[in-house]
Amino acid sequence: MQIEIITTHPYNDQSPGTSGLRKKVKVFQQTGYLENFVQSIFDSLHNFTGKTLVLGGDGRYFNRPAIQTIIKIAAANGFGELIIGQGGLLSTPAASHLIRKNNAFGGLILSASHNPGGPDEDFGIKYNVGNGGPAPEKYTNAFFQRSLSIDSYKTARIDDIDLDCIGAYQIDGLKVTIVDPVADYAELMQSIFDFNLLKQSIGSGYITLLFDAMHAITGPYAKRILVDMLGATPDSVINAEPLEDFGGHHPDPNLAHAKELAERMFNSKAPVFGAASDGDGDRNMITGSHIFVTPSDSLAIMAANAHLIPAYAQGLRGVARSMPTSQAVDRVAARYNIPCYETPTGWKFFGNLLDAGKITLCGEESFGTGSDHVREKDGLWAVLFWLNLIARKRQPVADIVHEHWQKFGRDIYCRHDYEAVEMDIANGIVEHLVNQLSALPGQTFGEYKVKYADEFSYEDSVDGSVSSKQGIRIGFDNGSRIIFRLSGTGTVGATLRIYLERFEADASKHDQDAQTALAELISLAEQFCEIKKRTGRTAPDVVT
Ligand code: G1P
Ligand code: ZN
Repeated sequence: MQIEIITTHPYNDQSPGTSGLRKKVKVFQQTGYLENFVQSIFDSLHNFTGKTLVLGGDGRYFNRPAIQTIIKIAAANGFGELIIGQGGLLSTPAASHLIRKNNAFGGLILSASHNPGGPDEDFGIKYNVGNGGPAPEKYTNAFFQRSLSIDSYKTARIDDIDLDCIGAYQIDGLKVTIVDPVADYAELMQSIFDFNLLKQSIGSGYITLLFDAMHAITGPYAKRILVDMLGATPDSVINAEPLEDFGGHHPDPNLAHAKELAERMFNSKAPVFGAASDGDGDRNMITGSHIFVTPSDSLAIMAANAHLIPAYAQGLRGVARSMPTSQAVDRVAARYNIPCYETPTGWKFFGNLLDAGKITLCGEESFGTGSDHVREKDGLWAVLFWLNLIARKRQPVADIVHEHWQKFGRDIYCRHDYEAVEMDIANGIVEHLVNQLSALPGQTFGEYKVKYADEFSYEDSVDGSVSSKQGIRIGFDNGSRIIFRLSGTGTVGATLRIYLERFEADASKHDQDAQTALAELISLAEQFCEIKKRTGRTAPDVVT
């Protein structure tokens, strides 16, 4: 294999965010941009000669050429085997599973998750380590540092690989294996859930369902598992064909973007269960006939009922949630006397807890839930979890949710996002918030008395690493919270996220609309951060 060393110049903007490096496609198409970043990753890793790298992406625009480029750089850097999903496709959880199953050294996942795709939209790349999870910060910091001084990359002079043909190719010392992207993942799901029960419940018509793949990666996965294996009717999966631009839509599973699903779940012919997943298949939105389940509630309900799922029948070792996720799961953990961890936003923080066997389930308010079966959040897994619960409990989604609130109380919750805010304004808001923190505790605003106000900092209980400045928290005496943070995944300007939460024990008040129930906290949030005042905007861009 002939290896070339290509001279390059460093870019100064290759600092990975919450979930890898995400930029506009046009940025990635600059000469040497992708190559630099991939070589910076390989330069920061050690002892991988002859080892295996898993490679795949969500199929968005630029996925295929990027994979061909990466194959050549990986070959030149000495990997022994590349395992690649057919067509260059792998959902993020399926990639995580393949890394684990094959004892791979790591993997590269090409995705910008829920961000739009296309020539003028977003692309992304992230490195996952040998446990199948996103690289922790000590790695991503090293990648960035290396990218600032890189002056050359290595590439192999080999032909493009036929990504569409399943099979193995040997190119000198390198084996390239193209695998069915769905098969191993489907087998894993079969080992976790009660597929026989699901087949009966779906076959008998007790469970009718609608899954929106949003023209993203989960289409083939949902068709194989829900339709072929579990017997759902073919029209149960909509927008099933993965498209490079996701059909021009935003592949983000929430009520605003999964429009058709949202409409159908709230009309008179609504199926029993409805769900959607995102660009790369790690997120999930759960709905039932005439009900939307917030991700925070979904996590809590899963934790409270996990013993009904075959793989978790022995109980949970512990649970974890990201800091802005509501405290609903904390109540379940307290009742069952299992540990509950609060981590910064981003899946990478769950990895150590899962590896150490401290937790079994974890989740984020941003439509992410997962377990120790992989080291990523997993959209279809969450869908199957809910289907298995409905089949076991023989209850519709709304009853499951209401029963849960009766038992544990309801953490009324919502998130407001202000997108593409000018950087200076966003930084000014954060500074303004930070300046208020020391004076807030003890102050009273209507029925809300501030108990604590701080910037969240996390010390990993496994490796002792500390991550600071992970969002601003204002907590009140009655358990309510307002949290502010800037997104680490956006590609234009800054996105300010405001998370609002209030606990309601009284079951007669559980049916309130969240925006109404949280109105006072919403206006308090504006009083603290002045986003409307400083930007002239009148409402958030997205409310979830
Ligand atoms: C967002 C979510 C976060 C999630 C990440 C990747 O990050 O808030 O929970 O882990 O996407 O899917 P953010 O843009 O807020 O940094
Ligand atoms: Zn995603």
